[in-house]
Amino acid sequence: MTIKFIKDFTEFPLLFKQNFEDVSNEAFSFHLAINAKDYGRRSRDFCFGFVIAYDGDKAIGISELYYGSSCVNNKIIAVGGMSGVAVKPEFQKQGIGSQIIEYSMKILRDYEVDLIFIYTDPDVNSWRNRLYSKFGFKNLPGKYIFMGKDGLKHAENDGMIASGVNDRIFNSLLDSKQDLHLNAGRW
Ligand SMILES: CC(C)(COP(=O)(O)OP(=O)(O)OC[C@H]1O[C@@H](n2cnc3c(N)ncnc32)[C@H](O)[C@@H]1OP(=O)(O)O)[C@@H](O)C(=O)NCCC(=O)NCCS
Repeated sequence: MTIKFIKDFTEFPLLFKQNFEDVSNEAFSFHLAINAKDYGRRSRDFCFGFVIAYDGDKAIGISELYYGSSCVNNKIIAVGGMSGVAVKPEFQKQGIGSQIIEYSMKILRDYEVDLIFIYTDPDVNSWRNRLYSKFGFKNLPGKYIFMGKDGLKHAENDGMIASGVNDRIFNSLLDSKQDLHLNAGRW
């Protein structure tokens, strides 16, 4: 198994068509919902690449990486995000998802994000929450606020954060329970 970071999103529609289009379960519903044109549009906003796991030349797993900003304690910070982490069903439970998460976090830290943000099941006993907590993610005590596709402001409480390159901001968000304001778009 090999893992690559793909920055050129124009490669993605073909890669998706050739490798993932036949997968019709929840693992890929996130990606199926987005057409190629939207990838382009979103990419210009804040999706800046994909981490792809390959078995030979076949793609078997994926995550999308985001880059945005926020303001914490009156300072502008860089926030990296990871979304749509998915592994083809027949390859699950072999450690591939964990490797995708680890590699995605490495790329985000290479981009020197202060904080890494994801959203997932906030129940600390759920397997998804436990999976991310192995990589240093903790439930965001406050809400995360963003402007959705509908142009309205949303506040959700299923965010998790990990430190990027700045433990101080990570700890401060955990201690202060302040909300995290993200820029417009789908995180
Ligand atoms: C989440 C996902 C990417 C994990 O991929 P994976 O390759 O199976 O992950 P791993 O093999 O690295 O497993 C990591 C841990 O999760 C656990 N796990 C994976 N799938 C599980 C399941 N369906 N139920 C319970 N635990 C599960 C594994 O047992 C493992 O735990 P361990 O480290 O204590 O042994 C994969 O299940 C998937 O594509 N799910 C559908 C999409 C999704 O839910 N994405 C997450 C969005 S937040």
